[in-house]
Amino acid sequence: MAISLPPILEPERTEPEHAAARLSGNELRLRDGHGRALTDLRLSVTDRCNYRCVYCRTGNDGAQFTELPIEQYARMLRVFVALGIEKVRLTGGEPLLRHGLLDLIRETAKLRAAFSDAPLDIAITTNGHLLAPMAKELKAAGLARITISMDAVDTGTFTRITRVPGSFERVQEGIRAAQGAGLGPVKINCVLLRGFNDSQIEAFAEFSRREKVIVRFIECMPLEEDRTWSPETVVPMREIIARLNAVRPLVALPANHASETARRFTFDDGVGEIGIIAPVSEAFCGHCSRVRVTSDGKLRTCLFSQSDHDLIGLMLRGANDDEMSSWIRRIVQHKEARHHIGEPGFLKPSRSMVHIGG
Ligand code: 5AD
Ligand code: SF4
Repeated sequence: MAISLPPILEPERTEPEHAAARLSGNELRLRDGHGRALTDLRLSVTDRCNYRCVYCRTGNDGAQFTELPIEQYARMLRVFVALGIEKVRLTGGEPLLRHGLLDLIRETAKLRAAFSDAPLDIAITTNGHLLAPMAKELKAAGLARITISMDAVDTGTFTRITRVPGSFERVQEGIRAAQGAGLGPVKINCVLLRGFNDSQIEAFAEFSRREKVIVRFIECMPLEEDRTWSPETVVPMREIIARLNAVRPLVALPANHASETARRFTFDDGVGEIGIIAPVSEAFCGHCSRVRVTSDGKLRTCLFSQSDHDLIGLMLRGANDDEMSSWIRRIVQHKEARHHIGEPGFLKPSRSMVHIGG
């Protein structure tokens, strides 16, 4: 079923062949008060999830869920893309649970990046549980890339983390289906937690080499519902590097782009790819290019923001696209310079990851 979208203003046309026109595009591009160009939007399409990962969700049911009609996300996306967003990542909760997701991807794929002739880069972060039967449709709808969260390479540890029996096998099927559907190279996100899965670093290296996936280790951040994070839960980048190097010598790879968050490596024989994302021990806030919209339509300028901005409220009060654009430009001026994890007086963010969207 196609979804109908309200009309929006075309972005000001820039002629890519004229350098001067490019410059005006650059000036119009969404920027924060620290001069960072904001080109990467994470949109959460649901805060429901079929897993209850220990570092994310409380073990209890009964949380309140909030989602918007898919057309409202689509309209927000169009406004952001006209502001120069080049990369859209759909997140959750678990986005594959969201009814209408394929329609949203189809509509998004029709948008062109406003200030270049490149197509919009559409990615998704999923836990992979529902992926196998959907992979081909996702690709056909216009999805370019996929990241699958997977925090262990054996069934027992995986189930201990997700708290869903049978989840490991489902995710393996999902990975293979994504590769078969042409969504490769698949990225695997592994949040390392001391005492839970830090024993799996070497096995993940082997997994990357064998399955031809990019494995990205992520230092755990204090974003959980249960508020159980402590500095001791973090497995720091230097330890990950030392242990991988003992498997086989690591060889650094160049960053893919300026705001790349992962340090990339392969091994000395060129087989396998590892990324290490170290928001705690080596924060990359200085070149952050991200803004987020939560599943209930609030704009967040940082994972660690102490408050949200009511984009959906503005939209439902009847703001037109120009008014939404100006409001967004104003709000992102105040994007936080950086996070303060590990510093005295650090305040946990006003919302947990599952409600913000990865
Ligand atoms: N710290 C780091 N990464 C996290 N994720 C979820 N919670 C945290 C956290 N506290 C990751 C998930 C997923 C992505 C959306 O964010 O594993 O890959
Ligand atoms: Fe669900 Fe992702 Fe949170 Fe796990 S980390 S409970 S998969 S939202």
